[in-house]
Amino acid sequence: MTSPRPKNLTLPDSPHMNAPDQRGRLFAPSAARNMAPIVTLVSEYAPQSGKALEIASGTGEHCAALARALPHIHWQPTEPEEVRRASIDGHGNDLANMASAIPLDATAVGWSKQHSGQKLILLVNLLHLIPAPAAQTIITEAAQALNTGGHFIFYGPFLRDGQPTSEGDARFHASLRAQDPTIGYKNVEDVERWIDESGLSLISRVDMPANNLAFVAKR
Ligand SMILES: C[S@@+](CC[C@H](N)C(=O)[O-])C[C@H]1O[C@@H](n2cnc3c(N)ncnc32)[C@H](O)[C@@H]1O
Repeated sequence: MTSPRPKNLTLPDSPHMNAPDQRGRLFAPSAARNMAPIVTLVSEYAPQSGKALEIASGTGEHCAALARALPHIHWQPTEPEEVRRASIDGHGNDLANMASAIPLDATAVGWSKQHSGQKLILLVNLLHLIPAPAAQTIITEAAQALNTGGHFIFYGPFLRDGQPTSEGDARFHASLRAQDPTIGYKNVEDVERWIDESGLSLISRVDMPANNLAFVAKR
């Protein structure tokens, strides 16, 4: 799978993305903040065994925490950025149920063919950083990569009725739009339509800390 370098956006975690430790590990404050609620949510829907794929694994902190919490699942982290793949491996290389990170541009049409048979797919904090058609492609491809009965769980900040839910969200959404007018928070209503059009069923929309949402969709 090709992996073009993602657009170089300035994000709250950006200052922490350039200083790997001796094992290559990066540490994102946002990943530390949302780790526990994400592990709790994913554990609720996780299968007893089988394959799970993480899209846009970033530093790898979520994947390593999930591999520890759910040791009977085989986790495959993916990430387009090479320095982040090294970080993911630094976080996961002592875990038998976590594979080495592989490159994946999740907005590329067709990636599901190389990654079929998943029981669980996780995506944290990417949809607001990419254009709407790319976000829809991710949902469509994730739906294709899942086995029947599998779950796609994705998390992030979203607009409700076209509006951000706090001043901080309004500022972040505006700062993304200023960097690229095609990106920014997506509307909940659009996301639910994309889920429907992908053939998945939305089984839960969960309020998460800091005004974020998690969507749980089932094939
Ligand atoms: C805000 S970070 C989130 C990382 C991680 N999921 C977390 O929550 O800590 C967004 C991540 O998406 C990755 N990314 C950007 N464009 C992507 C694409 N087209 N396909 C897959 N991942 C992408 C970036 O390299 C980055 O690691």
